Amino acid sequence: MIEVSTSVLDLSEKDFTHSIYNLETARTDYFHIDVMDGKFVPNDTSKRMLDYATTISHISQLGIDVHLMVNEPEKFIDDYIALSPRILTFQFEPVKNDKQKILNMISDLKENGVRVGIAINPGTDINEIKEYLPYIHVVLVMTVWAGLGGQELIPETVEKVKDLKKYFEENNLDLDIEVDGGVNEKTVKDVVEAGANILVSGSYILNSDDCKIAIGRLKNCL
Ligand code: DX5
Ligand code: ZN
Repeated sequence: MIEVSTSVLDLSEKDFTHSIYNLETARTDYFHIDVMDGKFVPNDTSKRMLDYATTISHISQLGIDVHLMVNEPEKFIDDYIALSPRILTFQFEPVKNDKQKILNMISDLKENGVRVGIAINPGTDINEIKEYLPYIHVVLVMTVWAGLGGQELIPETVEKVKDLKKYFEENNLDLDIEVDGGVNEKTVKDVVEAGANILVSGSYILNSDDCKIAIGRLKNCL
C-alpha cells in the first residue's frame, strides 16, 4: 500500500487549522514535520515545526511523521515523543560517528511506541546504515538534498531506492522505504516502481488546485 505524508513545511500560519482539516479530508496518511536547526541545514524551522506538530496532535487523529534535519537529534526527540508521533526519523549524517548515540535514540523511541526511521542524504551510501536496519522501521531516502521544499528530484536517488529494496528482499527485512523531495505526478511512478511505499510531498500537493486529486494521483500512480 502506498501512503502519502504531506509536508507542512511551507504551510502558512494563517488558516493553518483549516489547511490541516483540508489535507485530512483529502486523505493524506501522515503530516510530515520538517525540523531544521539552522546548523545541519541553513534554515531554522525548529520552533514553528514544534508549534505545528503540537497543533496537529490536538486537532487530528492522523499520524505525525517527524523528520529531524538537525545536528543534535537527541536534544529534540523528547519534545516530539510527548506528541506520540507515528514515525520519527533522524538524519544519519550528523550522528554517523556515534553508534551508541544512534542505538540509544532507537531504543528510546521504540520504548515509547514510536516507529524509527533513519534518513540519508543523496551523498550517503546505503552500506553506511546497513548495521542499523534490523532495529528500525523506516529508511527515508532523501531524493533532494535536505534543506528546502520545492526542489527537483535527483534521478540517481531512484537507483538507491532500488538497491535498498533489493537488499531488503535478499535479507528478509521488512522496512518501509520513504522518499522525500521533488515527489510529484511526474516523478512518482519511478520512485514507487523502485520500491518506495511512503511518499513525502509538499509543494506538489500544497500548490495544486485540489489536494485530494493530487494525493489520489500519488497513491494511484501505477
Ligand atoms: C526537504 C524536506 C522535504 C520537503 C518536501 O529538506 O525534507 O520534506 O519539504 O517538499 P517538496 O515536496 O516540495 O520537495
Ligand atoms: Zn522531510
